[in-house]
Amino acid sequence: TANRDKFRPLYHHTPLYGWMNDANGLVYKDGEYHLYFQYNPYGSVWGNMHWGHSVSRDLVHWEHLPVALARDTMGHIFSGSSVVDVKNTAGYGEGTVVSFYTSASDKNGQIECMAYSRDNGRTFTKYGKNPVLTPFDGLKDFRDPKVFWYEPEQKWVMIVSADKEMRFFSSKDLKDWTYMSAFGNGYGVQPSQFECPDMVQLPVGGDENNKKWALIVNINPGCLFGGSATQYFVGDFDGTNFVCDTKPEVVKWMDWGKDHYATVCFSNTGDRVIAVPWMSNWQYANIIPTQQYRSANALPRELTMYSEGKDVCLAVNPVKELDALRKETKEIPAFTVESGKEFTVDTLFAANDGAFEMDLELAADADCSGFKLMNGRGEYVDIYLDGKNGKLVMDRVHSGIVDFGKNAIPHEKEAHDNRVKNSINYVDDFALATWAPLSKDKQHKLRIFVDKCSVEIFLDGGKVAMTNLVFPNEPYNSLSFYSRNGSTKVTACTFYKLGL
Ligand code: FRU
Repeated sequence: TANRDKFRPLYHHTPLYGWMNDANGLVYKDGEYHLYFQYNPYGSVWGNMHWGHSVSRDLVHWEHLPVALARDTMGHIFSGSSVVDVKNTAGYGEGTVVSFYTSASDKNGQIECMAYSRDNGRTFTKYGKNPVLTPFDGLKDFRDPKVFWYEPEQKWVMIVSADKEMRFFSSKDLKDWTYMSAFGNGYGVQPSQFECPDMVQLPVGGDENNKKWALIVNINPGCLFGGSATQYFVGDFDGTNFVCDTKPEVVKWMDWGKDHYATVCFSNTGDRVIAVPWMSNWQYANIIPTQQYRSANALPRELTMYSEGKDVCLAVNPVKELDALRKETKEIPAFTVESGKEFTVDTLFAANDGAFEMDLELAADADCSGFKLMNGRGEYVDIYLDGKNGKLVMDRVHSGIVDFGKNAIPHEKEAHDNRVKNSINYVDDFALATWAPLSKDKQHKLRIFVDKCSVEIFLDGGKVAMTNLVFPNEPYNSLSFYSRNGSTKVTACTFYKLGL
């Protein structure tokens, strides 16, 4: 019923029924984006892992297709990647889609396997001589193979997450793999388990003569606010070794929310780099209050690189294809929120089903400038720029259904204390506020996407992304701006109702 599905997003990808986690094998071919995903067709909690399959021509309208890779007698079909074998290196024909996944079982452990598709990713044949790779040291956590073509040496590279590091292998034919190097031990947030690698090359600030590699490393646990999160390292890759630009203790987050994980990118998209996160957190993914299905993907986002002082960082922006979803526009003329006063927008849309975008530009001359996004039940998400402490904050403590957070999976004591210290307004592992660093500039731009059970913020051209789940009992449909110790000018304020 409609009521049952009241949290199902409108323009985010979800499975029809059953459980979903990581995006897998993302590949673009002949005008179609293939989104495979960790899938349990038999229940709405994790188990019986398959690769589910959806396909889209524009990254927003998704068609559900039959399961692409089913669990077999070797084990679960865990996460992995796909390539288009343009040069027929594997011998299955030019343009074959070749996919890599981890077969996981108690008996065989975690081993890398291959499958290929000659009908544009619809059906797959598992390679007869699987596995193609096993851990040389018997490592227990050895999974999520990411394969890409390394043009200068005309070879394939595979990155496998191996406990606390990423291991690099190479191959000429996608079948025989040779160990090359490892990266990551001691880098970034400690301690954490590395999962779901990806690595992309991008021009820094659009300069084709200055390209860098970003190694995407999903970690669990390690999120500032508890559970799983995505970090990345920027550096150089010579075909064998990845060398990081920054010291091991430097941490770069791809997203500052709590519901952004297992993020990987589409292969074969030319100059564009498009990443798709799983929009949940292992601390509570299995107990979120939806029925018949669990989990959505966060919005597909385009990654670019820019310099920030001596550092190179990723900018994260929603793909431009989303603009086509704007159905109704509501523009509020510029206004000023005086210190200690409020400015209210009563009704965002007459018939609001909880799927909209807000674009704001602010000039803040205050300690704190923000707004509450509210519904008629007293539930709200509080979003504010804390100029005094240099933080962008999203607080979901009063956002709606939060009580399941009490049953989130706790981690060891030290991690718990850190989390309480890091999170603002910490009540439990769901009811809390997340924050990101805010530059000293007084002018800021915010693009915010709301889709029934999610709020995604993209700040200042993607310098910060923040993705969080919320479960309001009815859609948020009004806004109350506030300003503390100083005034805030809202120079642009546009709402778009979004629909498919
Ligand atoms: C990440 C992950 C992967 C693994 C998959 C299993 O969320 O733990 O490392 O392949 O999920 O479903």
